[in-house]
Amino acid sequence: APEPLAEDGHGGMDLTDVPVRWHVARDPEFRDIAARGRALALPQLAHSVHPRVEGLDPATDYYYQFTVGRQSSPVGRFRTLPAAGAEAESFSFGLVSCQAWYHGHFTAYRHLAEEEDLDLVVFVGDYIYEYGITETNLWRQGAAVGPAHEVEIETLEQYRLRYALFKSDPHLQAVHARVPAIAVWDDHEVQNDYWGTLSDTGIPEDLFAHRIAVAYRAFYENMPLDVTALPDGPDTDITTGFDVGALARFSLLDCRQFRDPEPADREEQYAPERTMLGTAQEEWVTGRLTDTPATWNVLANAVVLAAIREQTYGQWDGYPAARQRLLDAMAESSNPVMLTGDIHKHVAAELLADFTDPGSGTIGVELVCTSVASDGDGSADAGNPDLWLDHEHVKLYDGRRGYVHVRLTPQEMISSFVVVDWVEADDTAPKQLAARFTTPAGDPQLIPA
Ligand SMILES: [Fe+2]
Repeated sequence: APEPLAEDGHGGMDLTDVPVRWHVARDPEFRDIAARGRALALPQLAHSVHPRVEGLDPATDYYYQFTVGRQSSPVGRFRTLPAAGAEAESFSFGLVSCQAWYHGHFTAYRHLAEEEDLDLVVFVGDYIYEYGITETNLWRQGAAVGPAHEVEIETLEQYRLRYALFKSDPHLQAVHARVPAIAVWDDHEVQNDYWGTLSDTGIPEDLFAHRIAVAYRAFYENMPLDVTALPDGPDTDITTGFDVGALARFSLLDCRQFRDPEPADREEQYAPERTMLGTAQEEWVTGRLTDTPATWNVLANAVVLAAIREQTYGQWDGYPAARQRLLDAMAESSNPVMLTGDIHKHVAAELLADFTDPGSGTIGVELVCTSVASDGDGSADAGNPDLWLDHEHVKLYDGRRGYVHVRLTPQEMISSFVVVDWVEADDTAPKQLAARFTTPAGDPQLIPA
């Protein structure tokens, strides 16, 4: 895009179709081409392209680049997954969420991009925020934005511009170039605390359906999703999954589109038919968990699964029957792991077979990553640590900014909770290790390492 922050959300492009060539090579100089193709970038999709690349070798390093005319993109790299069922020695990923660009620098991404051992980045929601950016919430020192960014975003053009603004960060760009990404959304990709088809601010449902439609469309345009996730109006399917040989199975969950509304009373909250994922998605993920060849069964979702506080309706605490069904399915799989964001705190928790029965035993673990920038500098005890740490199943709480680095091997999972002490002043904060846990395969608990 010649002008990424053009206010019409089109990056300075004319509203015409643009032919794009893409190349995948075995070397960064593109001498040894493995695959190539063409795609047509349409203004209707903000000139994004989503080509499918086929015929590559498994467990192999590749480089990719897009070209339009004489202009070429920066070079990205990726490693293909091992063949189905193949043994894999290890697989490592960064877990991130909540990148309120205006609240601080993306220092966490500077450090994540430099991790030596990295195959993937997992975004678990709030890749953008919809709020107007004004003097009051612009805490990222040295940054300035124009009037087009000052209002809450509502239109397709405004959502597109918001992705462009957040993606202007060089450290986020470095992470995207370094490894492939997978992503699920949370609420702020549309609007704070929305429930299924309902706005939390009382926008009439028909108008809100339009808002959802444009928000989902901008998410599709800007995120590395397959063409099967192309939205159909306010409906789209971002659930997907893949296997890392025999080592791990990943399943990505949509916790927003299909959730039942906030419960009116306790009876409604505990109703057995109450759903977080919707019937079809619940069946899909149950099938993936109960018939799986993988050592590690990893779910990525936006909101906290572990029981913390009954009145936190927006998390799985608001859906106790649905949580129990998911925990039952997870207990059927080997070594289930839930990846979560949303709360802007690092939390590590063990998942009980039944949270109403403290003696029911641990069936898996939940890794909750703090925000990259949301809520600004933060501190280790920011928020309400007692609420979380009072639970015996919660093993870590830290309110600083950062990311989680996770390494899976056939023997263990090592989760490293990385933090930085500041993000508002600049991007120079060194990385620190807040905590590290090992989770032995076959014994899913969090052991300080
Ligand atoms: Fe957030």
